[in-house]
Amino acid sequence: MPVSVLVGLQWGDEGKGKIVDLLSRRMDWVARYSGGPNAGHTVQVDDETFVLHLIPSGILRPGVRCVIGHGVVVDLDYLAGEIRLLEQRGVEVEGRLYLSSAAHILFPYHRWLEELQGQDVRVGTTKRGIGPAYQDKMARTGIRLHELFDPRRLRERLDAELARVEMLHKAYGKPMPEPRAAAVASWTRRYSEIGARLRPHIVDTVDLLNAAIDRGDRVLCEGSQGTFLDVDLGSYPFVTSASTTAGGAATGLGIAPARLGNVIGISKGYTTRVGNGPFPSEFPAGFGDPFRKRAGEFGATTGRPRRCGWCDLVMLREAVRVNGAKEIHLTKLDILTGIPKLKVAVEYRIGRRKLFYPPVDAQEWSECRPVYADLPGWREAIDGVRDWTALPGATRRYAAKIGEWAGAPVRLVSVGSGREAIVRAPR
Ligand code: IMP
Repeated sequence: MPVSVLVGLQWGDEGKGKIVDLLSRRMDWVARYSGGPNAGHTVQVDDETFVLHLIPSGILRPGVRCVIGHGVVVDLDYLAGEIRLLEQRGVEVEGRLYLSSAAHILFPYHRWLEELQGQDVRVGTTKRGIGPAYQDKMARTGIRLHELFDPRRLRERLDAELARVEMLHKAYGKPMPEPRAAAVASWTRRYSEIGARLRPHIVDTVDLLNAAIDRGDRVLCEGSQGTFLDVDLGSYPFVTSASTTAGGAATGLGIAPARLGNVIGISKGYTTRVGNGPFPSEFPAGFGDPFRKRAGEFGATTGRPRRCGWCDLVMLREAVRVNGAKEIHLTKLDILTGIPKLKVAVEYRIGRRKLFYPPVDAQEWSECRPVYADLPGWREAIDGVRDWTALPGATRRYAAKIGEWAGAPVRLVSVGSGREAIVRAPR
């Protein structure tokens, strides 16, 4: 049974949480492979809205087991809070959540460093310490979950890391937000305690997942953020610090690439991004501001207004290509109801050049002018529709054209926020 990978085709916030929730009905495992508490997956279950930052949304389906792989950076305070919240709302976590012992820990000093170095302002980050946590991982100074269980070792490791953090604060001429000795003492206590509580959850997840795949279990790898926030393939430097694309599932979980069979790409029917960086098909403010309000486009993690724009097929084409997406699920189509003419960017122009894929240089990308094709809109409300043939012809055509121009068929559209507001396209 090939492993499925679900990946965002844009700049994140494509509605992956809802699709994971849907697909996890047919899954034994849902495994997250990258990112950290910067992600925010929103799932509506009956009248309740769940926003999960670290734990895969598969946890909301009873019987599904969830994995946080070593590609993720784990903020223990968030994790402990999320487990508590889920349990308070009656979601069983015990025996269903596994954390890679090789996952790196995101400590409060990573947030200090992000602010100290001004990364948050330049890139427009979520301020969750993601960049510095991955910096430490790559610099081979990071602290991993398996190091939590020996308080003496943890204290030594924290002290050494905080000595470096202190030096950096001195170099920048800024005071430490908390004195080093006090932080070392209180964090050793706090994180040893959390570690002891989480101990049954912390395992070798490479072993766990590969054994499950060998047995024929069905596994879904849940991507965080989107293709163009990938540190290698995105709009660098306006990206996150992780591998958000399908390849990240192999490295971030230890599942061999040949076992990753079914890559599903998620895109909104339009485009959004939070944070800075190029966005050629962005709406002008006069159109974008009311659209954002109507669409509820505010970040699930930071509450920041999301920038909104037309569907960009130059991006989707690239995203289908680099992820090997075999199908597209198109979300939030109901938001487009009532717009008489829908534009989709089919290519870019820069000077006299035509581009069918985004350029490597973010500066050049921000200078690209989109060439739009117009597609007819629809006026009928579609949020109650559950059958493909009951969708307005213009909605079906819009979805079909996006699939055709992006290079992978649209197999499913989402027409509302509820769990059931889904329409499958015929094969
Ligand atoms: P960081 O991941 O906090 O370092 O932020 C880097 C960039 O990724 C910023 O532009 C963020 O706004 C963006 N970003 C990070 N996580 C998400 C997400 O879950 N959805 C959308 N954008 C995100």
